[in-house]
Amino acid sequence: MTEPSDTTADLLIMNASIIDGTGSPRFDGAVAIKGEKISAVLNSQQTDFPQSLNTQIANSKSVFDAKGLVLSPGFIDAHTHDDRLLLSDPLMMPKLSQGVTSVIAGNCGISLAPMTSAFTSGVIAPLNLLDESGEWFQFKDFQSYIQALRARPAALNCALLVGHTTLRVLAMKDLNLEASELEIELMREHVTEALQAGAIGVSTGLYYEPAVAASAKEVMEICRPLSHYGGVYCTHMRDEADGILQSLDESFLIGREINVPVIISHLKIVGVNNYGKSPQALAHIEAHQSRQEICFDCYPYPASSTILSHDRAVTASRVIVTWSKPLPEMAGMDLSHIAQKLQLSEQDSIKRLVPAGAIYFRMDEGDVQNILSHPQVMIGSDGLPHDQFPHPRLWGSFTKVLGHYSRGLGLFPLESAVRKMTSTTAKNFRLKGRGEIREGYYADLTLFDPEKVDSSSSYENPISRSIGIHGVWVNGVLAYQDGQATGQCAGQVLSH
Ligand code: ZN
Ligand code: CU
Repeated sequence: MTEPSDTTADLLIMNASIIDGTGSPRFDGAVAIKGEKISAVLNSQQTDFPQSLNTQIANSKSVFDAKGLVLSPGFIDAHTHDDRLLLSDPLMMPKLSQGVTSVIAGNCGISLAPMTSAFTSGVIAPLNLLDESGEWFQFKDFQSYIQALRARPAALNCALLVGHTTLRVLAMKDLNLEASELEIELMREHVTEALQAGAIGVSTGLYYEPAVAASAKEVMEICRPLSHYGGVYCTHMRDEADGILQSLDESFLIGREINVPVIISHLKIVGVNNYGKSPQALAHIEAHQSRQEICFDCYPYPASSTILSHDRAVTASRVIVTWSKPLPEMAGMDLSHIAQKLQLSEQDSIKRLVPAGAIYFRMDEGDVQNILSHPQVMIGSDGLPHDQFPHPRLWGSFTKVLGHYSRGLGLFPLESAVRKMTSTTAKNFRLKGRGEIREGYYADLTLFDPEKVDSSSSYENPISRSIGIHGVWVNGVLAYQDGQATGQCAGQVLSH
C-alpha cells in the first residue's frame, strides 16, 4: 500500500455536467471531495485535464459516475420554519429530498429560542406554527438551542435567525402595546446573546398580531446589536397587499438606521386589487439599492399559507385548511366544503376550526413569475413542516423552480435557476464557503437529472418526494440517494 498523496480524494464525482452556482454556463467535468470540502474541480475542456484526472481517479477512495446528470451546489432554503424539525426529525426529508443542503430557520419573527414559557392557554399564534403542544419551547437562551442542534446534528446545515415575535412573547407584559424602554432593553440583550451564540440575524413578522403594535423604532432599538455582529435583518413585512410600498419603505428605513442588510421575506403581492403590481414593487426595491443592501426571497406558488383567520380568508379566492386542533379530520379540505358539512357560514366554521392553519389563494401567477424571474431573487420555501396537510411548497419549491419554471416554461435557464438557490443566497446571508462548486468550498452538492427533475407535491397530494434528485452530499457526506435518506447526519450550524 502506498501512502496517500495530497491528491487523494475521498470521493470523485466524474462525468458530471457541472453547474457551479454562479450562473456561468455548465461544463463537463469532475469534482473531487476530501473530508468536508471540495478539493478539486476539473473541467474536461481544460488541457491539463487528463493528467490531473488520472491522479485523482487513481487515488480517490470511491468514484461516482454522474453521466447524464447535473452536479450543482446543494440548494439553500432562504426561508424556513424548520427550527423544530431540525431537532424532532433530523433527516429533514421535505428538504433533503429536493436537494436542499442548508436551511435558514427562525423566519417571520418566530424562532424556537429563546422561549421557556409554559403556555397555559395554548401556544400563541403564530408561534404555534413551530409547535402547537408547547413542549419544544424549552430553550431559555439561544446558546442552549444551538448546543442541542450540535449535540444531535441534522442531515443538513442550518443558519438561524432570532425572532422578534418570540422575544416579544417572552419579554412583554402586553403584546397589544409598543415595547417599553425596559422591555426593549431586555429583548436587545436576548438579541446580543443569540448573535454571540451563533445566530446570523433577526427576523420580524410585523404582519402578525403579536407584533403589529411594534413600531419601526422598537424594531430598530432591539436590532441595534446586528451591525456589530455582521447580522442581517429579515422581515415578513407589515403589509404585502395595498400598503406594500409603504411597508418596503419601513423595512428600508430600519435597515438604514441600524446599518444592516435588509432581506424582504417571501416577496409577493397580495390581494386581487393589487394583482399586476410586482413591477412597481421590484422597481421600488431597485431604486433603493444604491443607498443600502436589500435582497428578497420568493416561493414559487400563487397561494400563501399561515394560521387560519377570518380576516385572511375573506381576501382569498380559495382556502384549504392545513390543520385544525379541534377538528383534525378537516385538514386537506376546502373551507367552503367544510362550511357545507358543518352547515355553518365560513366565518362560523373558522371559529370551530381554530387553532388551525390554511392555504390562501390570493396572488397572481403573473406576479409570482415576474418576481421569480428577477435576477436577484432567492428561492425560499416558507414550508410549514408540522402542518398535517401542508402547502406543497414544503416538499416542492426547489424542484418546481428547476422543473416547471425553468425547463417547462423556460422562464430562465437552468444555470440561473440554480444561482437563485445557491450562490445568491449564500452571499446575501453571508454563508462563507457555501453556494458554489469551487475548490476549497464545502462539499454541499446535489446531483439531479436535468430532463426529469421536478416537484411531485400538489395541493391535493402535498407530501411527496421530488423526482430526479439522484444524490445529495452535505459537508462531503452522502445524505440522500435515489429517493432515500442514507441516515447520515453531517449538518452544521452555520454562523458568521
Ligand atoms: Zn412569513
Ligand atoms: Cu415564513
